[in-house]
Formats: sequence, structure tokens, C-alpha cells
Amino acid sequence: MKIRTLVASVMIIGLPTAWAAADEPIKPIPVAKVANPALVELGKKLYFDPRLSKSGFISCNSCHNLSMGGTDNIKTSIGHNWNEGPINAPTVLNSSLNLAQFWDGRAKDLQAQAGGPIANPGEMGFTHALAVDVLQSIPGYVAEFKKAFGVEKVTIEEVTKAIAAFEETLVTPNSRFDKWLKGDKKAITANEQAGYKLFKDSGCVACHNGSAVGGNSFQKMGVVEPYKASSAAEGRVAVTGKDADRFNFKVPTLRNVEMTYPYFHDGAANTLKEAVETMGRVQLGKKFSDDENAKIVAFLKTLTGDQPNFKLPILPPSSDSTPRPQPFAKK
Ligand code: HEC
Ligand code: HEC
Repeated sequence: MKIRTLVASVMIIGLPTAWAAADEPIKPIPVAKVANPALVELGKKLYFDPRLSKSGFISCNSCHNLSMGGTDNIKTSIGHNWNEGPINAPTVLNSSLNLAQFWDGRAKDLQAQAGGPIANPGEMGFTHALAVDVLQSIPGYVAEFKKAFGVEKVTIEEVTKAIAAFEETLVTPNSRFDKWLKGDKKAITANEQAGYKLFKDSGCVACHNGSAVGGNSFQKMGVVEPYKASSAAEGRVAVTGKDADRFNFKVPTLRNVEMTYPYFHDGAANTLKEAVETMGRVQLGKKFSDDENAKIVAFLKTLTGDQPNFKLPILPPSSDSTPRPQPFAKK
């Protein structure tokens, strides 16, 4: 209440541009602060290391490609043995801003999430024990774990902690929209601004807000009109068991959404135009004209921020005793 009064009185006096952003439903992305560089470096290597998979072929980066907006740009992911996954891979970019991880929020944070794919038979197809054996057999890794954690023994908790620390650095600040929020009025065009106004006035911001423009609530997919999904996933009900949560999904972030196609948990929308049309129809009961749709899409494209920028990590080589990859299923 107090803050509201303060903002209101500042507005009456005459609002300096920097204050304008305080009133917007979308906030700029904060730059990541690195507390433990050795831990982040280790996490980066693990993120890129396919030896954490049974086949020796699939890394986190296979499905969350950091050259492609932190996703795989396919409808549903391909995992171990060319397994066709049940659901679209969300981006890892800005995932530290999510209230929980996965479409149904079944992992409470990034560390809890990171153990999942390694042992998922349809993703990396390995076990935690075997992944740890592989790392323990690689002298370069043992030295890095020692540097980051001060211990000789590799554990899955350390592995997931390091990966999570790396993922926390994968934020994308400095988008043109954030520059505009911070007072650079020329950072977005009049057309893009009109798109933002439509995005706000139509009610998209009820669910897509905050610094990630989403990621902070679970919402029904198909509020005013049922959505016919091409995937069997039922969303949040899988976690809570409550009927009211059937078909509730974590609202995806719209940061870098220009790069993270195809859209929705079933990956059914190939283009932003299609995604905006569907959202208007099933969430808000609105039909946008082509011009309105194009304006909203133009606004969404201003949300692309600085992509991860680092030297590709060089992974420590396997030793003679490292268990070898098993790329093919036993016939
Ligand atoms: C075979 C493809 C594949 C691989 C390999 C993979 N992921 Fe994923 N990832 C997915 C899919 C699909 C989902 C969504 C699953 C769901 O919500 O049920 C997901 C979800 C996530 C999420 C949650 C994002 C959000 O917004 O909810 C994070 C974070 C993540 N993965 C990180 C990782 C890390 C770290 C690794 C490596 C240890 C990894 N993934 C390996 C496909 C993959
Ligand atoms: C009632 C809450 C709600 C409203 C209102 C809403 N959305 Fe969404 N949005 C969601 C949810 C939930 C999803 C994920 C649904 C799914 O995948 O099944 C989503 C997904 C999206 C996606 C796809 C993102 C991705 O990575 O898959 C886009 C783009 C999008 N919304 C844009 C909009 C626009 C534009 C509006 C306004 C016209 C809007 N949304 C209104 C909740 C909402």
C-alpha cells in the first residue's frame, strides 16, 4: 500500500523515465552474479559432456542447445535409442527464474531437476551410479571436483549442484525491451510498442509477467476454449493429484521466444503467429486481426536478450579405466 502511494505521488510530481518501468508488469532481467567460478566452470563441462549418457552421445546441450536459445527446436525431444519424447523441451535460458522446473513443476529447483534426465531411460538412459563411475575414472574431473568441493569422491549431489550453478548463469539480460524498460525510449519501435500495449490491454500479462515474462505460475491451458493437445501430458495434476490442476501447466517464459520454437508443451505451434492466435482464442476468447497479431509478434521479438557467451569448454579425456559408451541397444 505504501509503495503504491509513493508511486502515485511521484507520478503526480512528474515521472522521470527510470520510474516508468516500476509500474510495468514486466521487469528487466538482472545480470547473473557468479559466487563460485570453479563450480560454474565444472557445471559447464558437465552440461556439455555426453559421457553422462549411456550412449556417450547425448548431453544436456543435445536437447537444450545453447546455440539455439537453450532448446532443440523440435516438436518433442529425441533421447536414448532415438526415443521420441512425450513433451516439448523448454528452454534452459532464464530457468533459474522459474517458480519450479518442468511443465508440471515436479522438480522444486534446478538442482532437483538436473538428476532427472541422466537417469531417464528416454533421455540420457544412464544411472546416477554409472555416471558417477565415469566421472570418478577421469583424472581431470576428479581434480575439478576437488577444486570446487574440496573432496576426492564424486557424488551425484555434487554433479547436480555444479550443473545448477552453471544454469544460474544462463540469464539473458539487455534485450531491447529491457533497455526500453530502463528508459531508452528509442530501444523499441512504435510498432513494437503498439504490440506491447496490445499484449497488456488484451490480458496476456495476467499470466506472462515478471522478469521472465512467465515462469511464475501454473495456469490452465484452455481457459475459455478447450485446447486439443497432441501430447498425452495432463500437467500439474500429475504432481498434486487434484482434479482442478488437470491441464494446468507452468506458464512458459517468453524471453527469447523468437528462438524457442516450436511452442506449447506439445510443440504443436510452429510459428509465433500461430502461438499468439491460439493464446488469444483459447485463453482470452479474442480474435486478433492480422495487423494486431503481427504487432504482438514484433513485441515478442524484442524480448531476445544477450545469449550465453563463453569459450566452448574442452572436456578432460577419459582414462584407460573409464567405462565405455553403449551407443546401441542390445539386440
Ligand atoms: C533427450 C532430451 C533432453 C536431455 C538430454 C535433457 N533434457 Fe532437459 N528437458 C527435456 C524435456 C523434454 C523437458 C521437459 C520435460 C517435462 O516438463 O516433463 C526438459 C526440462 C528441463 C528443464 C526445466 C525447464 C523448465 O522451464 O521447466 C531444465 C532446467 C532442464 N531440462 C535441464 C536439463 C539438464 C541440466 C540436462 C542435462 C543433465 C538436461 N536437461 C537434459 C529434454 C532433455
Ligand atoms: C490464463 C493464462 C494465460 C494467458 C492470459 C496467456 N497465456 Fe500464453 N501461455 C499460458 C500457458 C499456461 C502456456 C503454456 C501452455 C501449453 O504449453 O500447453 C502459454 C504459452 C504461451 C506461448 C508459447 C511459449 C512456449 O515457449 O511454448 C506464447 C508465445 C504465449 N503463451 C503468448 C501469449 C500471448 C501473446 C497472450 C495474450 C494474447 C497469452 N499468451 C495469454 C498462459 C497464458
